[in-house]
Amino acid sequence: MSSPTVYLNGDYLPLSEARISVLDRGFLFGDGVYEVIPAYNGKLFQLSAHLQRLDNSLENIRLHPPHTHRQWQEILTTLLDDTPAQYLYLQVTRGIAEKRDHAFPQPVRPTVFAMATPIGSTLELQRGVKAITLDDSRWRLCHVKAITLLANILLRQQAVDEDCAEAILVIDDQVTEGAASNVFAVLDGTLTTPPNSNRILPGITRDVILQLARENRLPVVEAAISLKQLRTASEIWLTSSTREILPVVHLDGSVVGNGAPGPVWQSMNGLFQEYKQRVST
Ligand code: PDD
Repeated sequence: MSSPTVYLNGDYLPLSEARISVLDRGFLFGDGVYEVIPAYNGKLFQLSAHLQRLDNSLENIRLHPPHTHRQWQEILTTLLDDTPAQYLYLQVTRGIAEKRDHAFPQPVRPTVFAMATPIGSTLELQRGVKAITLDDSRWRLCHVKAITLLANILLRQQAVDEDCAEAILVIDDQVTEGAASNVFAVLDGTLTTPPNSNRILPGITRDVILQLARENRLPVVEAAISLKQLRTASEIWLTSSTREILPVVHLDGSVVGNGAPGPVWQSMNGLFQEYKQRVST
């Protein structure tokens, strides 16, 4: 099989030839940020929202944006092939520093990398997944999409070890988000998701769902969800760019609702698929 083309610091080259220095601060410190942008039928989904979030992440870690939105669009579009559903991964690190030092190098020449990856079918997952709740052991900058993901990795792996698809994270008895997803719950008939803060990533899928719910007059609020409320929810969903809207049908070993994707999920998933189709053709 031929090696897919990737972007690295201004060049398009086969993945098998892409190389970075072991002195890159992404490798040594996890000093960088990233984005994951879905593309359907060759069209980047919610591109400007993803690029705006990237700029926010870069600003938070005090890195200048290496490209304008127009340049990013050109780079990312160049990497797309004719796979119907794929995602673009892009990463910007603080580049190479000759001396390993926590403080920033001077000058900074960021390392910029991007690649396209097919999105596998999520149909099986859409029948419903199991999740567990875990203590949110992450830092206070969860609104930054940082490549430093060790806590998220350990939490997701603990979920997988317990035969679950995701860990739903809880801090001070309040739900934050999943290890790599946002959380929605249907509470007394109202679709509820925790408000944006430094405890969660402002999910782009989350925003699309909020917009679709408001446009279609589904009862929806951005409000705190306690662990107790989560346990009484009639529906729980996990949302992300690669998994879309996943119904959770088991939480901590107990059945959620009637153990199958619920009616609010059916409505929202229909609206979401329709919206995707509309903006991707
Ligand atoms: N992660 N919260 C966290 C911690 C995430 O890592 C993600 C997505 C989300 C959902 O955001 P969005 O809807 O914009 O994809 C929320 C991506 C998919 C990843 O790390 O692979």
